[in-house]
Amino acid sequence: MSTPWQETPQIRCMLPADLDAVVAIEREVFLFPWTRGNFGDSLDSSYHCLVLEQADHIFGYGVMTIGADEAHLLTLSIAAGWQRQGWGEKLLQHFIHIGRERHVRSMFLDVRESNYAAARLYERIGFRHIARRKDYYPAMGGREDSLVMELML
Ligand SMILES: CC(C)(COP(=O)(O)OP(=O)(O)OC[C@H]1O[C@@H](n2cnc3c(N)ncnc32)[C@H](O)[C@@H]1OP(=O)(O)O)[C@@H](O)C(=O)NCCC(=O)NCCS
Repeated sequence: MSTPWQETPQIRCMLPADLDAVVAIEREVFLFPWTRGNFGDSLDSSYHCLVLEQADHIFGYGVMTIGADEAHLLTLSIAAGWQRQGWGEKLLQHFIHIGRERHVRSMFLDVRESNYAAARLYERIGFRHIARRKDYYPAMGGREDSLVMELML
């Protein structure tokens, strides 16, 4: 039986055992999902890989790299049924906290031009649109630009 503290969602490091759940969400929310191998490589490379969990149920995750004084947020996802409840923002703030702890100066990310929900979240946190990468992403019937965003930490 679950105790109350187990019911409180928490952020923890991603483990290899989480990959089935992570890949299931990835396929649910993205038309062009990362593969299990992409997540496995991120773990093997000791990237900052976090999950959101409630009572043994994974409902969100993200991956960030840090090199020198730059951080790159590679992916961030919340399962469809958990979206718009503040969890994306909470997980993003956790990554920002890790960056600050490690004396990162800037955090960068790419977001699809059409992904208004994500872009809005990033703008709300303070990310600025600094560049565009043409045809960066695969898209239905062609390619799509990414917007490069930066947050000064
Ligand atoms: C983008 C994503 C991570 C946001 O996570 P979330 O938990 O749903 O977002 P939050 O509840 O923390 O929302 C925080 C703010 O982001 C913006 N936002 C989030 N979802 C939005 C939506 N569907 N439409 C418009 N704004 C949205 C709003 O400003 C929101 O604040 P508000 O609810 O007070 O208006 C989530 O929708 C997701 O996983 N989407 C699919 C995967 C994806 O696109 N990942 C990002 C790749 S770059």
